[in-house]
Amino acid sequence: MAITIKSPREIELMREAGRLLGQVHDELAGIIRPGISTKEIDRVCEEIIRSYGCTPNFLHYQGYPASVCVSVNEEVVHGIPRENRIIQEGDIVSLDTGLIYQGYHSDAARTHAVGEISPAARQLIEVTRQSFYEGIKMARAGRHLHDISNAIAAYVNSYGYGIVEALVGHGIGTRLHEDPQIPNFSQRRRGVKLRPGMTLAIEPMINMGTGDVDWLDDDWTVVSADDSLSAHYENTVLITEGEPEILTMGKIP
Ligand code: MF3
Ligand code: CO
Repeated sequence: MAITIKSPREIELMREAGRLLGQVHDELAGIIRPGISTKEIDRVCEEIIRSYGCTPNFLHYQGYPASVCVSVNEEVVHGIPRENRIIQEGDIVSLDTGLIYQGYHSDAARTHAVGEISPAARQLIEVTRQSFYEGIKMARAGRHLHDISNAIAAYVNSYGYGIVEALVGHGIGTRLHEDPQIPNFSQRRRGVKLRPGMTLAIEPMINMGTGDVDWLDDDWTVVSADDSLSAHYENTVLITEGEPEILTMGKIP
């Protein structure tokens, strides 16, 4: 499928979908604490999304059973919320969720520290977040898609972390996953030219050790192959004539 260019009307709807999702993440940041189950995080997430008159886009996506992916420590992405998975002091918790507003999707992820975490874990979270910002320096009309990939990769590689290659970012719009795929690792070809009106979900997934991953027996949860800690940061971004617009920003970056 070709990459979609959103019309001014569609951009307004994408902006609202993004703004509301930024608010969802801000609210979720306030409930992450030792003792909460990952299932409770999902209940709260779904309730917030529906209270905005929106629909959770992850729920039932290819059979996925929840509104948010909650991935703890060595879990990279797609952790399924469970009553008996309890968040502990010292955990790092990645929350990935999205919603549909009037037919338009948004998608964003944050990794939270629970109480005191090690300086090494804190650096992993910070480098993962910053790699997104390094990437979007290249998210400008006239540049190429893989300028984003290569900027993320160069920054992450300078810390010696493992970049997950098995999963990538993606275009987004009237569907959660549209073309193009957006790798976070270095690319030899330059990729498609970026154009105003493209909306992209850019989402580095970074491991402290190897970038290789495995799947748990639930067939969803992705874990680092060496069980090292993993972090995730994602926003839905609009390509404009000038600066990229981060649609899912919220108050907490
Ligand atoms: N946020 C994921 C992505 O970026 C989508 C998760 S799909 C789900 O592509 F089924 F796990 F929800
Ligand atoms: Co995504």
